[in-house]
Amino acid sequence: MQVEGSPYADGGGRSIWAAYEAVSGNIKDGSTNWVADDEYHRYAEDIGHMSELDINAYRFSISWPRVLPQGKGQPNEAALAYYDKLIDALLAAKITPFVTVYHFDYPDALQQQGGWLNADSSKWLADYAHLVASRFSDRVSNWLTINEPNILWGFGAEAGAMPPALKLESAQLAQGCHNLLLGHGRSVQAIRAAAKKPVKVGLPFAGTLSLPASNSAQDIAAARNASFSVEKRAIIPLQPAMIMMNNSWWLDPIYLGHYPTEGYKLFPSAEKLATPADMRLIHQPVDYCAINLYFAPTVKAGADGKPELVPDSPNAPRSHYGWAITPELLYWAPKFLAERYKKPVLITENGISLADAPAADGKVHDPQRTAFLNSYLGAFKRAHQEGVPLAGYFHWSLLDNWEFSQGYLERFGLIYVDRNTQKRIVKDSAFRYKEIIQTNGASL
Ligand code: BGC
Repeated sequence: MQVEGSPYADGGGRSIWAAYEAVSGNIKDGSTNWVADDEYHRYAEDIGHMSELDINAYRFSISWPRVLPQGKGQPNEAALAYYDKLIDALLAAKITPFVTVYHFDYPDALQQQGGWLNADSSKWLADYAHLVASRFSDRVSNWLTINEPNILWGFGAEAGAMPPALKLESAQLAQGCHNLLLGHGRSVQAIRAAAKKPVKVGLPFAGTLSLPASNSAQDIAAARNASFSVEKRAIIPLQPAMIMMNNSWWLDPIYLGHYPTEGYKLFPSAEKLATPADMRLIHQPVDYCAINLYFAPTVKAGADGKPELVPDSPNAPRSHYGWAITPELLYWAPKFLAERYKKPVLITENGISLADAPAADGKVHDPQRTAFLNSYLGAFKRAHQEGVPLAGYFHWSLLDNWEFSQGYLERFGLIYVDRNTQKRIVKDSAFRYKEIIQTNGASL
């Protein structure tokens, strides 16, 4: 929904963002996603840009309400046909599609029935996953179930800062989280059951890991500890502390088959939910540990060995969004995740928003994004050289796009998009990215 635009074209249904966008103040610039990058009509041009940049894989999501206007039941053939065309065009350009089944745009019709608190919610997702896998798995081998369940549920149901804009207490938060995890597990089963060819499946999670202040064994242990402890934390600038914002409450069930016991302090009601049958369902075999990584706090070992936050220096570089620039995240996060979950790590998002604008020469010069690529991918390369198992890297994002509650105010693209004309301008950083791809990192 961040790039396609035209959500109601050809019979598309309402997502939970429709009502949210209509409330003044919810989207910072008052915009909607109705136009976005108009990729619904311009996908061929954008694939041309991918080819020009030697990009060999494209991650996109299927819009659930476009395909199933009521969230379940009768599919919208015109919407399925759109994704057929997109996938065929990618394959013709030798670009591997990575499909996210559900990326924040939840059908409003299902929300009206309680959304993720409804006991059938995990089956609704799995039925939809089965539908799209049946249709596209003859051509699509890489599948991602739910984008950032911790963000959609933490922001959507705890902080009330994203639709459905609820502020739930611990027991209901734990219930919705459990249903999302069941939705993931059932979708993995559904995708595998429907698959016409061997598939790889994962769940892209918003990693909220911590970095060690030094290379001392104590600081590294403190960072590992902070990365996997279950506590209420404020990790995103200008957002409140949230109990949903931790890694292991979500990821231990997926990769290890159980909730971390220390989490029962925050979620006492979850002990009843964690039946052996449910945990088996959640703990489906997956092929990679997919993770979205942007920034991370630094911690050191305090006097008692416990992690202690090292405040960012006031002059530390930040993105336009206000996020700290912490390249070492691409070294430590894959290392910590691979150690704990024993899966190859797939970076499904990593990028920076900047106040990009065309210069007098008509080009977009974004040296900060080039520096970002060099430093983050340099750290990623170091992880690879030290033997951390890695499955791939996707930069967020190809195009400047509609950034949910920020509207069009954040530009994350390697390609600039003029909001009035939809003209695309390949930014300088994209040419550096091309060079990194062509040399497979040797030029880093
Ligand atoms: C989401 C993207 C979003 C990006 C930058 C992630 O939370 O998956 O949809 O655009 O971060 O905020």
